[in-house]
Amino acid sequence: MKIAILPGDGIGPEIISQAKRVLQTLRSDGLSLEWELGAIGGAGYESSKDPLPEDTINLTKAADAVLLGAVGGPKYDSLPRAMRPEQGLLRIRKELGLFANLRPAVVFPELASASSLKSELVEGLDLMILRELTGDIYFGQPRGRRQTESGEDEGFDTMRYSVSEIERIARVAFDIAQKRNGKLCSVDKANVLDTSILWREVVTKISEEYPTVELTHMYVDNAAMQLVREPKQFDVILTGNIFGDILSDEASMLTGSIGMLPSASMDVNRKGLFEPIHGSAPDISGKNLANPLATILSVSMMLKYTFNEVEASQRVESAVKSVLSQGFRTPDIYQAGSKRVGTQEMGDAVIEAM
Ligand code: NAD
Ligand code: IPM
Ligand code: MN
Repeated sequence: MKIAILPGDGIGPEIISQAKRVLQTLRSDGLSLEWELGAIGGAGYESSKDPLPEDTINLTKAADAVLLGAVGGPKYDSLPRAMRPEQGLLRIRKELGLFANLRPAVVFPELASASSLKSELVEGLDLMILRELTGDIYFGQPRGRRQTESGEDEGFDTMRYSVSEIERIARVAFDIAQKRNGKLCSVDKANVLDTSILWREVVTKISEEYPTVELTHMYVDNAAMQLVREPKQFDVILTGNIFGDILSDEASMLTGSIGMLPSASMDVNRKGLFEPIHGSAPDISGKNLANPLATILSVSMMLKYTFNEVEASQRVESAVKSVLSQGFRTPDIYQAGSKRVGTQEMGDAVIEAM
């Protein structure tokens, strides 16, 4: 099992260090894992003047799975768009065909009171957001800057989805819903956008192949509201790239912190890239403050989804549950009475629990 590890920028290297300790533990206990490091984002720009160096592309293509920290930082914000760290991430998603992004928002019982909502609203929440990851306004052409007739500058992007792109992500969503509670909510903006009207038509058509799944549709503005009003009404949410980006950050706060949310981005063959949903958190980087659990849970997802190592995946997840029940908390999930720890010490606790 070959893993390409791309730490990236900001807190990326700190949280990846802890995830690597988890991999080392699994390897010394007999799992045949090997890994190699590659540069992406600002780190790629520093080493090769490219946020996705050729070597990194080759490394990830040769690997069975990719583990990524985070990219970006204020230092790179004024670079031309093609050189920005975020482009490295978007390009690797596209290069590897990682169209299906699973972002589970699970509330661990110990963290229900760390949520920004009342605990009774989030207790027991187990939500799966399925975000389409290689289409939409993120990649649509044309885009850019131009002058209007009156000579004013304007910026423009193109929201687009083709029928086949919607069909393939919809099938993944129905498959997931079928294995869970048989409830799927597709989120769009079909009251305004042509892209969404097509999205809704195609998802509805695909639903005929899945008679056991109950499909509902919701406008994205309402979904944003419903997520904080009554999140437990949802089981699986299917949505496009930009709506999924926004709704998954919102959902993370139901679980206590964005530092708790892992993700899996899969291609058609279950090869995947695994990363926390958060960014490089420049405000806390280099201070041993970052929560490494989202990254460690991403390792658990990698073991389950790409390597089919269900037992090892559960071992990692159980270790995370154990450290939470022992009261270890990084500052983002800290509450009076619990044990405040840093990134490294949280890693220590996970390794000990394993
Ligand atoms: P962010 O997710 O980096 O941070 C938002 C807030 O959450 C910050 O207050 C941060 O301290 C906190 N936070 C994030 N992860 C945390 C963790 N593990 N533990 C504790 N607290 C955590 O979002 P941002 O500030 O909008 O973006 C910062 C940079 O990251 C930007 O350059 C952005 O483009 C990039 N970004 C990258 C990714 C990615 O690599 N997948 C995702 C989002 C943003
Ligand atoms: C995410 C991030 C990325 C996205 C950025 C950094 C390109 O916000 O993974 O959620 O918008 O997809
Ligand atoms: Mn995001």
